[in-house]
Amino acid sequence: MDIQICKHYGELSAKAAELVGEQIKQKTDSVLGLATGGTPEGMYAALVDQYKNKQLSFREIKTFNLDEYIGLPADHPLSYRVYMDEHLFNNVDISEKNVHLPDGNATDLAAECDRYEERLRHAGGIDLQVLGLGHNGHIGFNEPGTAFESSTHIVDLDEKTREANARYFEKKSAVPRQAITMGIQTILSARKVLVLVSGTDKAEAVRDMIYREMTTSFPATVLQKHPAVTVIADEEAATHL
Ligand code: GLP
Repeated sequence: MDIQICKHYGELSAKAAELVGEQIKQKTDSVLGLATGGTPEGMYAALVDQYKNKQLSFREIKTFNLDEYIGLPADHPLSYRVYMDEHLFNNVDISEKNVHLPDGNATDLAAECDRYEERLRHAGGIDLQVLGLGHNGHIGFNEPGTAFESSTHIVDLDEKTREANARYFEKKSAVPRQAITMGIQTILSARKVLVLVSGTDKAEAVRDMIYREMTTSFPATVLQKHPAVTVIADEEAATHL
């Protein structure tokens, strides 16, 4: 793993946007795997700036998001689709047909998981996957115990994850109990992976991801076997490294 430590969150965001920007410039029809959550917000803002300054175009870029809640309407303000619209898609020249998120309202959710994998395969696989890191080691919504061989699937969200995400909802009981997520194997199939970690509350998680023995109890440890992972951590998250 290539571990890069930045002074603060602003620097982390700029560095991440620089790496994603390089990928886009190198291959203008790249397939990007994208994450939601608080951590990548600054990266998206920096990418929008690059687009506005005419340094980048998303015209041919295809995106596949890691996950989506089950049962929230697509236009719900806390759906990941709305998050992506607000932070990136509405602000750049990406084409709607190139944007992919699992449909958490599909009538046949199991078929939707297979369809998502099929769309990914059809697009040629992910060139660069951006990841955040859950406190319990989750990547996407792959909670502890998820098989490393898993493909896109339905998950019951861990109580800790629901608590962490409750900050966005009016109350914890409003946080969905299930989601669709790319599987661990789906994530490992990406040609490159970029993990972003910020804040003291993630310091133990990032240490475990890098140094703990590979275990399904802490899903992010699986990244130790991926040949092209870059971790960008700010100094607060890097205190145990
Ligand atoms: C969420 C998301 C993940 C995200 C992670 C960390 O539950 N499903 O994709 O990476 O948790 O989120 P944050 O960056 O807000 O800490």
